[in-house]
Amino acid sequence: MAETKRAVITAVGHYLPENRLTNEDLEKMVDTNDEWIRTRTGIKERRILNDEDKATAFMGTEAAKEVLEQRGISAEEIDLIILATVTPDYLFPATACLIQKNLGAHNAYGFDLEAACSGFLYALTTGANMVESGRAQKVLVIGADKMSSIIDYTDRSTCILFGDGAGAVLLEVSENETGIIDYIHKTEGDTDLALYQPAGGSLNPSSRDTVSDRLHFVKQDGRTVFKKATVGMADVSTEIMEKNNLTANDVAWLVPHQANLRIIDATANRMGLDNEKVMVNIDKYGNTTAATIPLCLYDWKDKLEHGDNLILASFGGGYTWGSIYLKWGL
Ligand code: ACO
Repeated sequence: MAETKRAVITAVGHYLPENRLTNEDLEKMVDTNDEWIRTRTGIKERRILNDEDKATAFMGTEAAKEVLEQRGISAEEIDLIILATVTPDYLFPATACLIQKNLGAHNAYGFDLEAACSGFLYALTTGANMVESGRAQKVLVIGADKMSSIIDYTDRSTCILFGDGAGAVLLEVSENETGIIDYIHKTEGDTDLALYQPAGGSLNPSSRDTVSDRLHFVKQDGRTVFKKATVGMADVSTEIMEKNNLTANDVAWLVPHQANLRIIDATANRMGLDNEKVMVNIDKYGNTTAATIPLCLYDWKDKLEHGDNLILASFGGGYTWGSIYLKWGL
């Protein structure tokens, strides 16, 4: 029987805009305060891309360039680009196509994948399956979001949460025991629409009314999503540990989606993990949607050791949620 191939992350890149939006800045914009934001969410500041002519494709391209440089390969060697995002530059063409052009990745095809905050995990396993099947050799998986383009900076319940950024990884066939070992992905259609952008799609196309009613912005029933996210992310993280006979001692790092520090703490607690094993950068970047998990991998890459067991976990709009168990290969 043919040996099962495994896909492994062989490089990590990122892009963060220079411009910072702090809690103190937000205090001047809406009725909020630093103490409320820090204690309820863990966020202190976020990055905002405020160049008018730059958006998600730009950030995704920069993150991808860093990946290519780190791995020492040319863009022509890439055969697939998967971009997870909820803020494409245009509804179509796919932003992955723009990134392909920017990079000069002439031998790659590409597409966008939309699964809100779980986008990067879904994209990573999609890319991994392509590598494992032998259909692709070098896959760029990018998570990038310019959340500031769909945030209503008069709505204090959402504008404090989100930031802009991008993270990217390269997937290749593993030559050893490291790589993506298992995943669990879940979806439950949120017909009550507790987290969504009402207009701009085919149901409510853009019109004067959709603009004046502020329907092109993120709307969230925070309390409802919070309850779902706390249970969902903890459940799916413990489920993957049990499925793979992992104890808390076996897990080197939890790499959680950064939506709210209280959701992250609840997940780590259920897994029996100490805080030192949990990647947290929500204080610096807020929720960058598809970019949070690769940005964590980037920030921690120098601390990770070959063979470390990582659990990646997310929960987001859709609802979509999931976990990935991988052995770090760098
Ligand atoms: N500053 C001060 N007060 C505020 C603010 C603010 N920025 N925002 C809300 N409040 C008030 C509310 O009006 C409310 O006041 P009331 O009690 O007088 O009505 C009070 O604070 C409590 O509001 P809640 O919404 O219950 O606050 P909560 O503790 O739930 O925190 C939060 C809100 C941070 C949004 C939380 O619900 C949350 O993190 N939800 C989940 C987010 C998430 O995981 N989303 C999924 C991923 S995102 C994606 O997929 C794109």
